[in-house]
Amino acid sequence: MTDSTILPDASVRRDLRRRLLAFFDDRARDLPWRRTDDPYAIWVSEIMLQQTRVETVIPYFERWLERFPDVDALAAAPEAAVLKAWEGLGYYSRARNLHRGAVVVRERFGGRLPDTAEALREVPGVGPYTSGAIASIAFGEPVPAVDGNVRRVFARLFDDPEPPPRRLEAWGRDLVDPDRPGDFNQALMELGATVCTPTSPACERCPVSSRCSAYAAGTVAERPAPKKRTKARDAAFVVRVDVDAEGRVRVVRRGPGLLQGMWSFPEMEVAGTVAERVTAEAGPDALGAVDHVFSHIRARYHVVRTGTGSAGAGAAALDAAAWSESASVEDRRVRGAELNDLALPVAQQRIAETWLRDADVRR
Ligand code: ADE
Repeated sequence: MTDSTILPDASVRRDLRRRLLAFFDDRARDLPWRRTDDPYAIWVSEIMLQQTRVETVIPYFERWLERFPDVDALAAAPEAAVLKAWEGLGYYSRARNLHRGAVVVRERFGGRLPDTAEALREVPGVGPYTSGAIASIAFGEPVPAVDGNVRRVFARLFDDPEPPPRRLEAWGRDLVDPDRPGDFNQALMELGATVCTPTSPACERCPVSSRCSAYAAGTVAERPAPKKRTKARDAAFVVRVDVDAEGRVRVVRRGPGLLQGMWSFPEMEVAGTVAERVTAEAGPDALGAVDHVFSHIRARYHVVRTGTGSAGAGAAALDAAAWSESASVEDRRVRGAELNDLALPVAQQRIAETWLRDADVRR
């Protein structure tokens, strides 16, 4: 057991379980992954739900299961199809890991997901949280599943500003209901998502406020202590929308790094001052800017038109800025409508819209 972790005594533990399970039974949202006991579907849901809101995930989850109904279907799919189905969800390495995971499950585990948290961790993309979630929800193993929501609930319940992972795991393991571990873990997640929210939590509706140390101490708003985040850096890109005589635009498939495997317009990262100069020099070929915030980068894409239909100033401005685009692994020319068949990150879709709007205006 860990150092200084104080665990609730047996009667408190029982009371917390009873209250949380009653809350789950009465007030949990009806979510598609709660209507299945298929471990594969539960795995998919847990990966999609990482860093992504429930409402966003639902339609993706449903489409995914139609498109890839089981481990074999996913393992056999080309990566391009997998990324296309993930398009818009972000954090695309999750999709690539899920895909690799399906291959591992097929090859090492005969197509069936292993049924313990420990064995699940052999699957690519499945870490401590996800293995606990799948094992408890799909297989009834009484193991903890502490995600960001549960961390916040525990930090408040035990009035601990910065609980280290080992302490969170100890609480989760101690509290989890032995008979309904999956429902119990989801009750904690649900509480964190709908009641014990980061700002303005609804303590008056909380089933465990009478047991909550932060509530008693008046420290709910300070628990957990805000994370010291490394600030996202600003980055400027010039993006080339290069059209040929047939009206086809050039796109590239990205190599290792940000958004690997996805398609985008050719781009070059530049200093902000260079981006401004290029935009000014491109004149009528500067089509505007698109902003997108990634977890660690605040990106601004300055869209510049070159090739057929351009005024020529765009190409000259990019030349003057010593155009040298980011490395890619494939290169194609496609019509506007064909962009829909490629996995394009959200910012790139907006760049495509910028181009198509411009092409429209000039038609
Ligand atoms: N977040 C992570 N897993 C979840 C689940 N099973 N239900 C709701 N939200 C979640």
